Amino acid sequence: DSDVNKLTISEMSKPLVIAPEIYGHFAEHLGRCIYGGIWVGEESDIPNVKGIPKDVLEALRQLNIPVLRWPGGCFADEYHWKDGIGPKDQRPEIVNTHWGMVTEDNSFGTHEFMRLCELLDCEAYIAGNVGSGTPEEMMDWVEYLTFAGKSEMANLRRQNGRKEPWDVKYFGVGNENWGCGGNMTPEYYSDVYKRYQTYVKNYPGSRVKKIACGPNSWDTRWMEVLMRNCRGKMDAISLHYYIMTGGWGDKGSATEFGENDWFTLMDNALKVRDLLAAHIKIMDKYDPDNKVELYVDEWGAWWNRQPGSKPGFLYQQNTVRDAVSAGIFLNEFNRHCERVKMANIAQTVNVLQAMILTKGEQMILTPTYHVFEMFKHHQGGELMDTRLQTSAYGLDGKKLPALNVSASKTEDGIYITVCNLNHNSEEKVSIEIEGGDISDVSGRTLTADKINSCNTFRSPENVKPSPLEAEKVRGRTLTLELPSKSVSAFVVKQE
Ligand code: AHR
Repeated sequence: DSDVNKLTISEMSKPLVIAPEIYGHFAEHLGRCIYGGIWVGEESDIPNVKGIPKDVLEALRQLNIPVLRWPGGCFADEYHWKDGIGPKDQRPEIVNTHWGMVTEDNSFGTHEFMRLCELLDCEAYIAGNVGSGTPEEMMDWVEYLTFAGKSEMANLRRQNGRKEPWDVKYFGVGNENWGCGGNMTPEYYSDVYKRYQTYVKNYPGSRVKKIACGPNSWDTRWMEVLMRNCRGKMDAISLHYYIMTGGWGDKGSATEFGENDWFTLMDNALKVRDLLAAHIKIMDKYDPDNKVELYVDEWGAWWNRQPGSKPGFLYQQNTVRDAVSAGIFLNEFNRHCERVKMANIAQTVNVLQAMILTKGEQMILTPTYHVFEMFKHHQGGELMDTRLQTSAYGLDGKKLPALNVSASKTEDGIYITVCNLNHNSEEKVSIEIEGGDISDVSGRTLTADKINSCNTFRSPENVKPSPLEAEKVRGRTLTLELPSKSVSAFVVKQE
């Protein structure tokens, strides 16, 4: 019966842990992500903790952010880190040429970023400058950050108020070096990568994972060349995948769209499965022992800038459509956790598919924020095998699976997250979980009245999760009714 959704959950034949870092974030010097978003400065009237707005910090803490990538993005390959250390009044002003040609005062630099990571209790992922920087500059930064002994850079760090080195786990050797990071070919970048990574040192007591710049979405040739040339010299390779409903010139509106656009975005989000499979196949060929990790360190929906917002600031609204697409991505990252060990949504505050939007001292949480909050329990869970027989969700003769799912075994029980892509109708699903009988089910669902419902500064709680009750529980089976256009998360305890 094609109308029945049936899900069977059981243990995987091989245990696989969902790396917490799949729930990572990305914050670039772009628009109002850092300045005016994450950073208002200690002198600000806005209540802050060491320059970080209190409410933003508190909200981000609720997400259990495992890792934060900074300072870019395209900005990384024009950033000279020494501009962002030392007394604030002596830091040079710079122009952010990628994003709006605005002048920045460098008040947010290495120390401020590392403090933010400490406040969030997350790992730091720093993206180094290959495009316009030197190997020496990169080497100095790593020494400044991680060397405990005496040296010019470590002494400078101490002089700037930080005695102990920081624990920096991730270091990116460039960003999008096929584009804004230097317009290189994969062959050329391979050589450049090998050169620069030589100087990313592991000082005593420190172990920095080196990340090579990977492909732009479907560029499998880039993956092939990098894996062939550099696999022994990298811990991970990145991948970027942005979705939209139009092309790069006219990406589509974040809020003004019809059901066709809804369908197209769901289709593009689901394509992440094929995308991951295509790249993982190449990685498997060159690295059958699974040593090189795949980091999808930029992903999300990218829309035309909000009318009235500044060009180059990439400010966009965020609707229930974005929330469902985020749920699909996260489910698929979970399901590919054997190779995908990190993912970083673009971006944390006020830019692209943000968690938080701010206006002066006001702040709102987006539908995507709630998805991250609902999915956080998967972090560190053991992936479960999910066999889904799902009905078709069709529009104009095109078809997609109505549901998308992943599950993990956690300390609290079996954690299940399901997206109902169908914008028109609710979907009933019967779920059988192998193991003991079900003793308890609790869950939440996020949906909305309209396909473009969003949270605004006037109506900040328009889209948020609400409790979801199981319709029926019998033995090892439960039945749920999932609202149309929804993301649901629930935990099942077994006897
Ligand atoms: O996230 C915005 C931009 O998208 C990043 O700076 C760049 O890496 C990508 O093209």
